[in-house]
Amino acid sequence: MESMGALKRTHFCNDLGQAEVGEEVTLMGWVLRRRDHGGVIFIDLRDRFGITQVVFNPELNSEVHAKAHAVRSEWVLAVRGRVAARPEGMVNAKLKTGEIEIMVDELRILNKSKTPPFPLDEDIEVSDNLRLKYRYIDMRRPQMAEALVLRHKACQAMRAYLNEENFLEVETPILTRSTPEGARDYLVPSRVNPGRFYALPQSPQLFKQLLMIGGIDRYYQIVRCFRDEDLRADRQPEFTQIDMELSFIDEEDIYRVAEGMIRRLFKETKGLELTTPFNRMTYDEAMERFGTDRPDVRFGLELTDLTGIVENCGFKVFRAVVEGGGMVKSINAKGCAAFSRKDLDDLTEYAGNFGAKGLAWVKIKEDGEWQSPIAKFFTDEERAEMAAALGAETGDLLFFVADKPAVVHSALAELRLELARRLDLLADGSFNFLWITDFPLLEYDYNEKRHHAVHHPFTSPAEEDMALLDSDPGRIRSRAYDLVLNGTEIGGGSIRIHQQEVQEKVFQVMGISREEAADKFDFLLQALELGAPPHGGIAFGLDRLMMIISGRDSIRDVIAFPKTQKASCPMTEAPAPVARKQLTELSLRPDWQET
Ligand code: AMO
Ligand code: AMP
Repeated sequence: MESMGALKRTHFCNDLGQAEVGEEVTLMGWVLRRRDHGGVIFIDLRDRFGITQVVFNPELNSEVHAKAHAVRSEWVLAVRGRVAARPEGMVNAKLKTGEIEIMVDELRILNKSKTPPFPLDEDIEVSDNLRLKYRYIDMRRPQMAEALVLRHKACQAMRAYLNEENFLEVETPILTRSTPEGARDYLVPSRVNPGRFYALPQSPQLFKQLLMIGGIDRYYQIVRCFRDEDLRADRQPEFTQIDMELSFIDEEDIYRVAEGMIRRLFKETKGLELTTPFNRMTYDEAMERFGTDRPDVRFGLELTDLTGIVENCGFKVFRAVVEGGGMVKSINAKGCAAFSRKDLDDLTEYAGNFGAKGLAWVKIKEDGEWQSPIAKFFTDEERAEMAAALGAETGDLLFFVADKPAVVHSALAELRLELARRLDLLADGSFNFLWITDFPLLEYDYNEKRHHAVHHPFTSPAEEDMALLDSDPGRIRSRAYDLVLNGTEIGGGSIRIHQQEVQEKVFQVMGISREEAADKFDFLLQALELGAPPHGGIAFGLDRLMMIISGRDSIRDVIAFPKTQKASCPMTEAPAPVARKQLTELSLRPDWQET
């Protein structure tokens, strides 16, 4: 192996073109491919920036040519040579440097490489596990490198915008106390305080509120958050938020700043001018029409409530559900009457995954005739009313779910998405933003028999609903909002409670005793009594935003070193066992393992 010696890199691998023909240059990079063409060797040399073809001609320099003969994929090279225009017919229009090549005078082999675990020059499917185990190889592939470049640009754009808007970037602690976002905490034992633990922050929520009380006025941070929850394609145990908080503001100020930031982001990453303000929809309307608080409104297939029509019908399942306080809702899959028996069985099974006990269906035939196992249970009048409510026409396929509202909504919301995937309604390249507003403040937990905060316990009730705190807390609306992009929740926040009496009252309604509140959040309660300004904020999921912007299916594809579905890292093999001594030092009992 050789060193770089006196060679200094003069250009990156995407820099050179016609303008540099005749110049002497030095490039360094990895061997993407090596081709032997009747004695002349061509190597595609690659770095993060691009690819340049370098040429070894035995007639010009036999020694260097002989050396190039040994070179293999992913070896690391330095080459010095002269830029030459490619002969006519050899120009590669797809490559930025496709008009030139380098005639090499000097070759240094800086490092060899074993055969890589997967090829880099083809668009082949590589298993996720292998990609993560050799992430540094995966990163040499353009798709992965592009994702990281885009993420960098995105952060630059958002930082620049927030700086212009007078925000201050402040770091908040990673070793802290439990933060109330509703997931499980990652705990870190304290060596010097035996039996005590730090929690990694699920978000900087409490600190950013304290920054407002500290007069910082406008804070932001691009910050890592940690949540021990079940993982999905859009959830990682550690993920990044663009987190912000503002003082003396209301919802409109938050929407304006957030929309401005997202506009800048799309302008600088995609070159797109988004139209603002974004549309808004209340939580109630979203649930009613789409069965979810993060509706993808790029397509129809909306839910229609038929409860009133079927409450006295002859189909026992529907009648019993309505009598028990449930509901019956339906989706009209326009023009889908040709779906096969298998399609219907698959969709029934799919809806079953989300709790539906069945999926009744009706195909609308010629003259509006119903083909369906349940058609016989309805009167002509009921059928006509349902068809009218659903706008049903010949060729349509209707789906029905009867159950408790929560089950009907989740099953039909998921069925709606599955239908959209089957009908290819999703991949249209558009970006549809939607604010969801007027969330309920609390949700009732039937197991624990108490109310929980829907967002978090520091979210302010809507002013006009304050009176309900005593009489009917379940009906209070909150001042929380989410931003949804193409059916993914990309951000959420709220106007906070800034008066201690209100905060205490809300804790009380949630069944959090004064002692429990003081034990967990005493510092915040004290701060609320020391001149807390009205304030509020929002946090965006950077990984989710990047996933959607770059058209990927998983946030893993936009994170340099992500974790698997089991929250592990195949490369470092974290989490890993630790030595007994280390546990003892931390005053932890190592009962569960031998080391
Ligand atoms: P919230 O819990 O809604 O709000 O989180 C804000 C945004 O963070 C993203 N997100 C995640 N991304 C990847 N993996 C995860 N496990 C994950 N969990 C959340 C989502 C989400 O919209 N402190 C509040 C914000 C506030 O009130 O200002 C908070 O954390 O895109
Ligand atoms: P059954 O009479 O149980 O065979 O059901 C007749 C049809 O109604 C089948 O297509 C079932 O999938 C459907 N079905 C059963 N229960 C429900 C329900 N809770 N909601 C919607 N459809 C149902």
